[in-house]
Amino acid sequence: MKKYIKIPIFFLSLLPILIIFNQIIFNQLGPEPVKEITHVTGQWTLRFIIITLAMTPLQRITKLNFWISYRRMFGLFVFFYASTHMMTYVGIDYRFDWSSIGDDIIKKKFIFVGFLAWLLLVPLALTSSKRMIRFLRDKWKQLHKLIYLISLLGIIHFLWLVKIVTAEPLIYLIIIIILLMLRVRIK
Ligand code: HEM
Repeated sequence: MKKYIKIPIFFLSLLPILIIFNQIIFNQLGPEPVKEITHVTGQWTLRFIIITLAMTPLQRITKLNFWISYRRMFGLFVFFYASTHMMTYVGIDYRFDWSSIGDDIIKKKFIFVGFLAWLLLVPLALTSSKRMIRFLRDKWKQLHKLIYLISLLGIIHFLWLVKIVTAEPLIYLIIIIILLMLRVRIK
């Protein structure tokens, strides 16, 4: 049964990137296509972080274990959208001009924080398999707590890049704080 729900959820999670591909093919990304792709992939990275963080509180509140079986898939979607987001910047926007990218990382604090968040996601993605969970045991739990830090770095990245703070990053921040507090409270 779980498998039959997982498949539609998997395709639903792919929807944002499929919409982008469709818009690229039909030239519907507007006057600043690269900005639009960065915008959508950045947004979805943050949304998938929130969805992933919500799985454990949902399991504890509803006492239903199936939430946990989706956590890994959503976590990998975080990495997928974060990597697509970063590659849009590195590959399309800067065409792998490493010296300009390096300059940006040093000079623009929002890029530095974004890069740091992506780098921290790498060990989580690499250790997401069931084999690694069994192999690392308690260390796996410790390592995957990095997602809390990553979620906050993602928000800081968003807050630092906007010139005027809008409601959107603040709403994400409030949701993340609630989710982190729920984890502490329902232990
Ligand atoms: C976990 C990692 C990350 C998260 C959650 C994230 C999230 C976001 C979000 C939500 C936005 C705003 C989208 C919008 O509304 O326009 C954004 C924009 C952006 N991000 Fe990230 N990001 C991450 C990593 C990175 C990395 C690694 C880079 C590149 C090194 C990067 C570069 C950018 C750029 C260039 C923008 C657009 C800035 C602008 O509009 O001027 N991000 N990101």
